[in-house]
Amino acid sequence: MKKPRPKHSKSKTKVRQGRVLVVTSGKGGVGKTTSTAALGAALTQSGQKVVVVDFDVGLRNLDLVMGAERRVVFDLINVIKGEAKLSQALIRDKRLDTLALLPASQSRDKDSLTEDGVARVIAELRAQFDWVICDSPAGIETGATLAMRHADVAVVVVNPEVSSIRDADRIIGMLDAKTVRAENGQCIDKQLLLTRYDPVRARRGEIMTVENVLEILSIPLLGIIPESGEVLRSSNVGAPVTLGSPASAPAQAYLEAARRLKGEDPVIVTSSDKPRLLQRLFTRRAA
Ligand SMILES: Nc1ncnc2c1ncn2[C@@H]1O[C@H](COP(=O)(O)OP(=O)(O)OP(=O)(O)O)[C@@H](O)[C@H]1O
Ligand SMILES: [Mg+2]
Repeated sequence: MKKPRPKHSKSKTKVRQGRVLVVTSGKGGVGKTTSTAALGAALTQSGQKVVVVDFDVGLRNLDLVMGAERRVVFDLINVIKGEAKLSQALIRDKRLDTLALLPASQSRDKDSLTEDGVARVIAELRAQFDWVICDSPAGIETGATLAMRHADVAVVVVNPEVSSIRDADRIIGMLDAKTVRAENGQCIDKQLLLTRYDPVRARRGEIMTVENVLEILSIPLLGIIPESGEVLRSSNVGAPVTLGSPASAPAQAYLEAARRLKGEDPVIVTSSDKPRLLQRLFTRRAA
């Protein structure tokens, strides 16, 4: 005879198969860490379980922007070396229950960031979170290649200037060659995030316009984040901008970008010079 099933037989921990997203750029200082924190918080605010992972070994900035620098005990390298369990290194956000941070070490121990170690940690994180967001270091060396290695989605961050666009183009080439997905013949979803955009300066011809950027880099546009003092103000108090200054233009733009990452297609409300033009650009890219 069949045994009756116990009434509360649900397992406690749900095994997920989260998506891995890398925030990358090539050029330094364009807004990767800012965007990792803001997109991580925005996705969490929309009901997702998210971990942000700092791959910038030696510099370690993400914990500062997340307001968790005093709570770092163990880090990614400790977990890779087997000196700490993942659960010991993860720092749960104080404001959002389902947001966590895996910090980088501040030592210059970059060689410990091994391919096998990273693969193991990412697999473990995928099983626990809906989104694993990897904050890449600048450049095209080991740290950057390991940060993108397991990505399903890449957010390529650019500023409206030639050197940033050129480096982004190199990174797009690497995403198509050096990721696990690319090696398995699968495509990697690449999305462009234009940050520090100032429509007034673009109109004056001082920086590149959105259309100029899109003509050179033909990947879909995820969002346009305006230049704003609110970004620095928030990171100075250890808050992603969507939490530190939720009504500000950059926060709204990050919240929209997060909705697009989830497959929704919100109407553009970001402050811009030509909203209708932007609407057309997004529609064209999405087609
Ligand atoms: N939308 C914005 N408006 C104004 N300032 C911004 C904006 N986005 C980022 N910044 C500022 O730009 C600087 C660099 O940002 P961030 O550290 O996120 O770049 P990064 O790409 O991670 O740099 P690195 O390559 O060194 O890791 C910071 O001072 C940040 O506050
Ligand atoms: Mg950074």
